[in-house]
Amino acid sequence: MIHIKTIQKEAEMVGHQLNLVQEESEVIHKLPTLLRTNFKGKALESTYIIVNETLHLYIGVGKIEKEDKIGIKEIGAKIAKELERLNIDQCVLHTGELIERCEIGCLADLVEGLLLGDYMPKKYTNQVKEEKERTVYLAGIEVEKEEEVQSLIEEMHHVVEGVKVARDLVNAPGNHLRPGDFVKAIQNLFEGTQVEVQVFDKEMLQNMGMEALLAVGDSSVYKPSMVVLRYLGDKGNADVMGLVGKGVTCDTGGYCLKPANSMLGIKGDMAGAAAVLGAVYGLVKNQRRTNVVAALPICENRISESSLLPGDVISSYGGKTIEIVNTDAEGRLILADAVSYIVKEEKVTRILDIATLTGAVVGMLGFSIGGVLSNDEKLWSSFEKAATQAGERYLRIPYYKEHEKMVESTIADIKNAGASCCGTITAGLFIKTFAEELPWIHLDIAGTAWVDAPVFEYQSKGATGASVTTLYKLCQ
Ligand code: BES
Ligand code: ZN
Ligand code: ZN
Repeated sequence: MIHIKTIQKEAEMVGHQLNLVQEESEVIHKLPTLLRTNFKGKALESTYIIVNETLHLYIGVGKIEKEDKIGIKEIGAKIAKELERLNIDQCVLHTGELIERCEIGCLADLVEGLLLGDYMPKKYTNQVKEEKERTVYLAGIEVEKEEEVQSLIEEMHHVVEGVKVARDLVNAPGNHLRPGDFVKAIQNLFEGTQVEVQVFDKEMLQNMGMEALLAVGDSSVYKPSMVVLRYLGDKGNADVMGLVGKGVTCDTGGYCLKPANSMLGIKGDMAGAAAVLGAVYGLVKNQRRTNVVAALPICENRISESSLLPGDVISSYGGKTIEIVNTDAEGRLILADAVSYIVKEEKVTRILDIATLTGAVVGMLGFSIGGVLSNDEKLWSSFEKAATQAGERYLRIPYYKEHEKMVESTIADIKNAGASCCGTITAGLFIKTFAEELPWIHLDIAGTAWVDAPVFEYQSKGATGASVTTLYKLCQ
């Protein structure tokens, strides 16, 4: 755990000193020659010297610009990693050269990276490793800016807690997070907060006619549920953002079984739901004035005598019939019911759905860019702004009538998979039909939610907490 505080005068007294150094900075010329050969102040370079038991750590920031939020977050994470490597429990961070270049606002990104860089996935071993408490004192902040910086640290701290909530849930092994465990975890997370949590269990889902969610969830003895969260922090405002997140705690593919080498990541198929939880957590902790209602369909996708089969036709909460072409395209089925529910019953004014939905998006955009579809220019532009503030990358993918045709069925109202091409588009368009005419935006995070090899310094192998910060910024 890293604590971040501001410090004014006695900075030199605290002990270890950490300097952020620009490329070609004068600071470099003052370093001993030996250090200068390996340290030029390029981004993420680091070196240190020890003088009288005090460690002076130098971390390069290169020619960083304030727009480069990812770059600044990476520097923050690098600091966290160096503190751990050198086992420094207390230090003063001289932000001077970074603030000079990037202004005070960039501290939020630095703090985000610092706190995220500290994240360690839970290990399931008998060895106990104690978590170290470390404190970083931010020096070089003008007295009149100190309050602003302190509240920015506190806000970021809660946002990052939300990211860690998402990471922990996604990293949890499938047998530790069955649908029932997931529901309990959500109830615990929001206990005693302003967020109202309502759980629809299997029986209630049957009474409501949530046929698509049940059709997938019935494949497992671990029963499906739908969790609805309501955070109404701005009651006078009629705008309500609807969030829907895919919560498949294990996706084997069903009878259209996944090959063995694609099975390892199947526990992470609830990252959409986890991202929504992380964002709502940040909103309530920071007491944001906003209204959000979330619907999270939670289930498993397995093989059993009650699983779906290709060729089946099912109904859905919204009334549309669906031809099952592929049992591995289960996410859009459960999202369809949750989207219909939130549109019809919760009276949301805009809707965002988020899911680890298609392998196609990974092929197209890799592990650092989320795929987006939207039917509304205004919502897309607010989203784009939020993503920029969050330092997360997305690409809006176009769609036309010809793509909508690809999910038309000859025997039902719609089918759950298109042809072999444009899988990300057809998956999104399937869901769009359930959003009716509302402003709608769809995020496919199948590539970004999980990294076997971290792309950025502030990630660790496994769950990334992708989209939590973007959703937070969009909803706040
Ligand atoms: N959960 C998967 C998508 C996925 C793939 C997530 C890779 C993470 C990494 C989803 O349920 C799925 O299996 N989609 C199929 C749809 C296809 C059968 C139409 C896919 O993308 O292959
Ligand atoms: Zn699937
Ligand atoms: Zn899935």
